[in-house]
Amino acid sequence: MASVSHSHATPHTYSRTRVWVTSAMAALAGLLFGLDIGVIAGALPFIAKDFHVDDHTQEWIVSSMMVGAAIGALVAGWLSFHLGRKYSLLLGAALFIAGSLLCAYAPNTELLIGARLILGVAVGIATFTAPLYLSEVAPGHVRGAMVSTYQLMITVGILVAFLSDTAFSASGSWRWMLGVVSIPAVLFLLGVLTLPRSPRWLMMKGRNDEARVVLRMLRPDDKTVEQEMKDISKQLEVKDEGFSLLRRSGNFRRSVMMGIALQVVQQLTGINVVMYYAPRIFGIAGYSGHTAQLWGTVIVGAVNVLATFIAILFVDRWGRRPILISGFSVMTVGMGALAWLLQAGIKTPTEQVIAVAMLLIFIAGFAMSAGPVIWILCSEIQPIKGRDFGIAVSTFTNWVANTVVGATFLTLLNSLGHAQTFWLYAALNALFIFFTLYFVPETSDVPLERIEENLMSGKSLRQIGR
Ligand code: BGC
Repeated sequence: MASVSHSHATPHTYSRTRVWVTSAMAALAGLLFGLDIGVIAGALPFIAKDFHVDDHTQEWIVSSMMVGAAIGALVAGWLSFHLGRKYSLLLGAALFIAGSLLCAYAPNTELLIGARLILGVAVGIATFTAPLYLSEVAPGHVRGAMVSTYQLMITVGILVAFLSDTAFSASGSWRWMLGVVSIPAVLFLLGVLTLPRSPRWLMMKGRNDEARVVLRMLRPDDKTVEQEMKDISKQLEVKDEGFSLLRRSGNFRRSVMMGIALQVVQQLTGINVVMYYAPRIFGIAGYSGHTAQLWGTVIVGAVNVLATFIAILFVDRWGRRPILISGFSVMTVGMGALAWLLQAGIKTPTEQVIAVAMLLIFIAGFAMSAGPVIWILCSEIQPIKGRDFGIAVSTFTNWVANTVVGATFLTLLNSLGHAQTFWLYAALNALFIFFTLYFVPETSDVPLERIEENLMSGKSLRQIGR
């Protein structure tokens, strides 16, 4: 973009559509995230048959993507500062395309694991950068809704992947299942090319004139543009101190620990056990045919999307804590009932149906609560000075915990047994009700500045909201 030396020579090119398209393009990153989470469930049984792989190798085919994502989330902070948000997203998009094509052509398990690792790096970069970019281009009043909408896109991506897997399952072609993801990735790349650079990043680099050009495309009038530029300048005066703040401030260490704990809790609910191994779970529940298993998986995906709306509608009205407490309770009941059925032995068709219903109740419990709310809380509890650092750490933790869960499920099934594995997750969800009661703050409707003040003055974590 040409730099303009006389600010007032910049024409005002605002259009609502432009704002909308910009946000939609960035949110497409959420869709890709979901596609890549969802795509493996349906493909795994066919890969296992083709390559004759044991459970342990299957766990690594699943988890290599998460390891990559953890690496991607780590480097994303650096990349998005130096290359800028737009070019980081572009790099992510290119890796998405390369990763999915390599998966489709992988001649053996080693290369498949390598290709999933690359795909993971793309996911890690995109999941860090897209929400950041969104929050920097979105007008203030819709910023809150953005995080939930982003989660919604993730769930839609998972559902689309489950559907596409089911469509390809007749031919058993896992290569098509994994390769077809490159099509939305190409669209994403083309879309990102049209995105303006983030105004906040431009100002961070002292390129204020360019930032003004961008803001004039995205904000309705000059007054709003100049006000926002003033606000950004003021925010930029507070230097992001990340690591040194961590060493200096015990209070910041507490909020970073909270971010870590929240993401560990989200993953230990066992949500991704279902996302990655759903067909296998349907097998355990007595559905032996591929088609039944895959359609069951599609229903899981649909419930995941639908229940996310409950969170979007109520998260600001009911507050974070009531939503989390009800969600964990619902998840405990779903997982517990499933464990109980497995222990008693699922024999009749009615018992099979009840088992599936319990699994769906569990999914609904997650999607209406921990799915979006954990991400929202993680973005709210960090003080400005350490926000980027704090969010990078919690995002990284999400992927590490995700890897651990994905890489141990089949081992748990084989060593603890089916019922015990589900009892374990039921017990964890019950524990998280108490975790929420004692440690999670209520942040809804509390200005971020207030949360920061409370945290930095040493109030207990439970009390940093209202
Ligand atoms: C989690 C993912 C999960 C997804 C399911 C997200 O909030 O971070 O790990 O797969 O929800 O919808």
